[in-house]
Amino acid sequence: MEKRNERRVILFPLPLQGCINPMLQLAKILFSRGFSITIIHTSFNAPKSLDHPLFTFSQIEDGLSETQTKSRDVLLQLTLLNNNCEKPLREGLAKLIKPDSDSGTTEEMKISCLIDDSGWVFTQSVAESFNIPRLVLCAYKFTFFLGHLLVPQIRREGFLPLPDSEAEELVPVFPPLRKKDLVRIMGKSGQVEQLDSYLVKILETTKPASGIIVMSCEELDQDSLAESHKVFNFPIFPIGPSHIHDVPASSSSLFEPDQSCIPWLDKRETRSVLYVSLGSIVTLTESEFLEIACGLKNSDLAFLWVVRPGSVHGRDWIESLPLGFIESLEGKGKIVKWAPQLDILAHRATGSFLTHNGWNSTLESICEGVPMISLPFVWDQLLNARFISDVWRIGIHLEGRIERREIERAVRRLMVESEGDEIRERIKVLQDEVRRSVKRGGSSSRSLDELVDRISSF
Ligand code: UDX
Repeated sequence: MEKRNERRVILFPLPLQGCINPMLQLAKILFSRGFSITIIHTSFNAPKSLDHPLFTFSQIEDGLSETQTKSRDVLLQLTLLNNNCEKPLREGLAKLIKPDSDSGTTEEMKISCLIDDSGWVFTQSVAESFNIPRLVLCAYKFTFFLGHLLVPQIRREGFLPLPDSEAEELVPVFPPLRKKDLVRIMGKSGQVEQLDSYLVKILETTKPASGIIVMSCEELDQDSLAESHKVFNFPIFPIGPSHIHDVPASSSSLFEPDQSCIPWLDKRETRSVLYVSLGSIVTLTESEFLEIACGLKNSDLAFLWVVRPGSVHGRDWIESLPLGFIESLEGKGKIVKWAPQLDILAHRATGSFLTHNGWNSTLESICEGVPMISLPFVWDQLLNARFISDVWRIGIHLEGRIERREIERAVRRLMVESEGDEIRERIKVLQDEVRRSVKRGGSSSRSLDELVDRISSF
């Protein structure tokens, strides 16, 4: 570890699990490069400060009511958070920079920069008012980041209604996305204006930033990174999957991972278990949940399934499973509320991953060489899934068919049939390329060095 830098980096994650993980991992990387770290966070989904004793944590009030914190409408939550948090962030930063005499220190803090998610749309002006450079963190695949900014324009040009005959066609400005995928990204009626004005603000407030840090690498995002100069004229730092950089690991989970998964996997044969998780946001109807349950059981293969409490509509947890379902699995299936996902994907017994293709889960699976069955629901998940099935060919796409036979069939294709061996070979090649990128001299490692130089130059 290098000598601690006098300079402090402030990080301000969006309070979603999929944003907290890469942001805290980035904090660990910058800490290992000598920067002091302060995490400013909302009270909603506050990260567990005790898991990160070397960082300073500072909480701001977000003004969300209890009902709003439980809402399933993420766009609404992000809108409210953006409306409510400007003043608290401003006051929080002012306090950090110029502590009052009550806090016992009068020395002004030197802040190198603010790093926050692109989804915070008021932070650029706050940073400017304190004369602090702002770097934007892109926790999506960069192809999606560039593409989603075009959604308002695509809508204006009259994309909808989409004739059925065109559903499978590629979106010319957003390949390999198909038109039927884009329909699902463009938002439900009633949300459209809110979504478009949010996306316009993201673009407006990202352009004047001092750079963008991308949780992806040349090996996964070459084309879009090469295109980026058409939109942004600041440096782009594709530093690769943050969790495989050489820094001490610690969890940033908002929920308690069930550690009994690991001894359960220890007893299984190599590559014999299907891991199933749909991330931290996706919810299912009861009938979708039951179709998945029956598909897994009928595949007759071992599975480890994360069902988040409250993720099945109208239910607390898994009580809608038919009576005797768990017993009928005879130990072949295990259901938990939250899992140590990185350890599971790295376990020799894990053979494949039925995933919603959130970008973190997708990267984590690639980095462990675990092929995927794609069941994307919203947003960037639809694009990530297309890369998995159509470009890299490292998984099977369910095409939204949440039906027991389709699930059983996909699981057996991947876990038992020779098609699975070919897919495994391809993902192994991609895994090696991505892992090589963070090693000394690799593209992500070089990009990280440039990022550290850039922050040091502020
Ligand atoms: C959200 C969006 O849904 C996703 O599309 C976007 O790319 C990022 O923000 P989320 O749904 O939480 O993310 O999915 P994902 O990006 O995969 O992140 C989930 C994180 O939680 C992963 O880092 C995963 O390792 C972790 N996780 C998940 C656990 O630690 N345990 C679990 O049981 C499930």
